[in-house]
Amino acid sequence: MTRPPMPDHRPARVPLWRHVAMFRRDILSAQPARLYRARMAEFRLPFLRSFLVNQPDLVRLVLQERPRDFPKSARVAEGLRLLLGDSVFVTNGATWERQRRIIDPAFAGGRLREVFPAIWASAQATVARTVPGEIDAEAAMSHAAADVIFRTLFSVPIEDAAAAEVYAAFRTHQAAQPLMNLGAVLPLPRWVPRFHSRRARATARRIRALITALTEARATAIAAGTAPDDLATKIMTTPDPETGQRFGTAEMVDQVAIFFLAGHETSASALAWALYLLATHPEVQEDLAAEARALGRLGAPDFGLLASLPRTRDALRETLRLYPPVPMMVREAAHPETFRDRAVPPGAQVIVSPWHLGRHEAIWPDPHDFRPDRWQAPDTRAQARDGYLPFSAGPRVCPGAGFAMAEGVLILALLLRRFRFDPVPGAVPVPQAQLTVRSATGIRLRVSARG
Ligand code: HEM
Repeated sequence: MTRPPMPDHRPARVPLWRHVAMFRRDILSAQPARLYRARMAEFRLPFLRSFLVNQPDLVRLVLQERPRDFPKSARVAEGLRLLLGDSVFVTNGATWERQRRIIDPAFAGGRLREVFPAIWASAQATVARTVPGEIDAEAAMSHAAADVIFRTLFSVPIEDAAAAEVYAAFRTHQAAQPLMNLGAVLPLPRWVPRFHSRRARATARRIRALITALTEARATAIAAGTAPDDLATKIMTTPDPETGQRFGTAEMVDQVAIFFLAGHETSASALAWALYLLATHPEVQEDLAAEARALGRLGAPDFGLLASLPRTRDALRETLRLYPPVPMMVREAAHPETFRDRAVPPGAQVIVSPWHLGRHEAIWPDPHDFRPDRWQAPDTRAQARDGYLPFSAGPRVCPGAGFAMAEGVLILALLLRRFRFDPVPGAVPVPQAQLTVRSATGIRLRVSARG
């Protein structure tokens, strides 16, 4: 059995300049190894106090019990505003509450069933695009997840001219400006300007112009009564139940940008790591392939079919525990607090780390091993309550969680029915986090057709 790859960790003491350089490169390997055991860690820098909380009751306090007292850090917003404007991912307070009141109904339970045919079509297209040979799983899954977003949001596949252009522009933007090269968690003082290259500004402008055109076209179709019943239409026609107001075009553009970004980067990361873990755990892969083949002949899109894929779901959950696409979440203490007898001053950063919680040695047995069968064990429910946060928790929980699980399970199952995935000898991915957890060296896999 192959141990899933882990990032390096930094030595206990490093000079400040080196620490900053390490953070810039990768927020995972910039952390000390003791975070897999510690309940809390304080980082005291001349201009910033930062507390990483790994203790379940503190995590619950921050995310679920008193989320208003731990708003999204302004540093996160600064890093992302160029592209995302005032999207629901970065706002706080009354603006955020209003935005969620409008967005949430589009993702509520029954809606998933309604958008399922679009997810289904996208999964079929992914299978049709896959050919035996060596692949870069990150690129392939990024394409697949971007296709899902466009089909569910705007009822067009990624091959549609406007969709393809948005996708290409996002890729160029990321090359110019790795997105989560987080102004947020960088241990720099607030007054250091967050630098955006001229190229990053230009690509962000281009992306926003393209999304504005899509959104305006949709507004026209809604007015004409010809709009398809997809996520964009639902969100643009839902009034805020408290004020009766809808999103204007500019605010909708901000939301589309975050749906596209949050929805495709994350799912792509999860799917690529899942394929790698299955390639390196062939017995699990064979088990999942058998489960997928037992579905028999596939006809029309069938939402109920997901219930027949419990082992695939467990493998995806286990992937999200080991490689949570959003590895850390940053909040800010609004008031003085005391955590574990330590004073947390207002303005201090409070970091919740799905990465460390998912591998915490006091929570999980065999924390660094890929063992999907653990999800059937009776103790796992309690462990997951304390240590499983890939979609966050509380009022800011990911609205796309149900959506992402449906998409992930379906794409994995349909791929495994037809193909086998094997590691490429010597190509071991190195986890690294910028916006999401990716591999510094790509995830190369060999694909062969199943007989
Ligand atoms: C495997 C896939 C996904 C993972 C692991 C994931 C994870 C997360 C996490 C951890 C957060 C909270 C971030 C924070 O509070 O700092 C979040 C927020 C968010 N996610 Fe997801 N996500 C996924 C897929 C999606 C999809 C498919 C969509 C939409 C189509 C989506 C839309 C959002 C939005 C809009 C927010 C902001 C919510 C708020 O702040 O109120 N995500 N996601």
